[in-house]
Amino acid sequence: MTERPGDEADPSRRVAVALDTPDWETFGAWCEFFGPRVGLLKVGLEAYTRWGPACVELARRHGRGIFLDLKLHDIPNTVAGATAAARDQGVDYLTVHAAGGPAMLAAARSAAGEDVRLLGVTLLTHLAADDLEALDLPGAARERVERWAALAAAGGCAGAVCSPREVALLRESLGPGFVLVTPGVRPAGLVAADDQRRTATPERALRDGSDILVIGRPLTRAADPEAALAQVLAEIGSIAPSPRDLAPAR
Ligand code: C5P
Repeated sequence: MTERPGDEADPSRRVAVALDTPDWETFGAWCEFFGPRVGLLKVGLEAYTRWGPACVELARRHGRGIFLDLKLHDIPNTVAGATAAARDQGVDYLTVHAAGGPAMLAAARSAAGEDVRLLGVTLLTHLAADDLEALDLPGAARERVERWAALAAAGGCAGAVCSPREVALLRESLGPGFVLVTPGVRPAGLVAADDQRRTATPERALRDGSDILVIGRPLTRAADPEAALAQVLAEIGSIAPSPRDLAPAR
C-alpha cells in the first residue's frame, strides 16, 4: 500500500463509490470521474465476475485506492489463494466473511501481508429474524453482528462492514482503532432508499462512528454527479475527522 497523505480532514477520503454496472463504458467513465475525487473505488462481485482483474486495473489507473468487495468465504487454502491474487492486483481493501471462521480469517490475514487490509463482513443486511431462524443462528441480529465483528477483529481484520444501524454498537465494543465501513448511506434530503432497507445520512453514519461510507447509486445515478458528490462532501466536512488511519492514497 502506498503512503497515506496524512490529511485526515479531507472528507473525500471517507467516501467509497460502488461501481455497480454491467456496462464497461459506464464503468470506465465512473472510474475516470470519481477516481480522483474520492478515497476508494469499490469493485464488487458483479464487475469482477464480468471483467476480472481488468476492471481492478482500470480502477487502479484512476483511483486513489481500491476496495475489492468479493466477500470471500471458502476453505482457508482457497481464500488465502484469492487474497494473494487480490494483493498482487494492488488492492487496498478486501472483504472476507467473518462466518468463514478463525482458520479462514487467519489464512486470509497471512496472505494479505502488509498491503491489503481485510474487512470482515458480518451479517448480510438482507437477513431478517426469520432468516436467522431458518439458518439456525440463535440470538438477535445485533448480537450476531457484534459477535462476528469481534471474530473478524481477533482474526486480524483491519475493520468490518456493517449497516449504519449497527455502527454505534461496533464502535463501542471494538474501540477506536477498528475501521468501520458502512453501505446504505443516503445523503440528506434524498428520499430514494433503492433496495437498501436500513439507511442513514452521511452525517448520522459518521457521528455514530463510521469511517468510510460506501455510496453507489446516489452518486453514480445522480442527474448531476458533481453536485451530488459536493453535497456528500459538504455533509462529511461538517463533522470532525476520525483519528483512524483510513484509506490509502496514491
Ligand atoms: O447503490 P448503493 O449505495 O445502495 O450501493 C451500496 C453498495 O454497498 C453496493 O455495492 C452493495 O453491494 C454494497 N453493500 C451493501 N450492503 C452490504 C454490503 C455491501 O449495500 N451489507
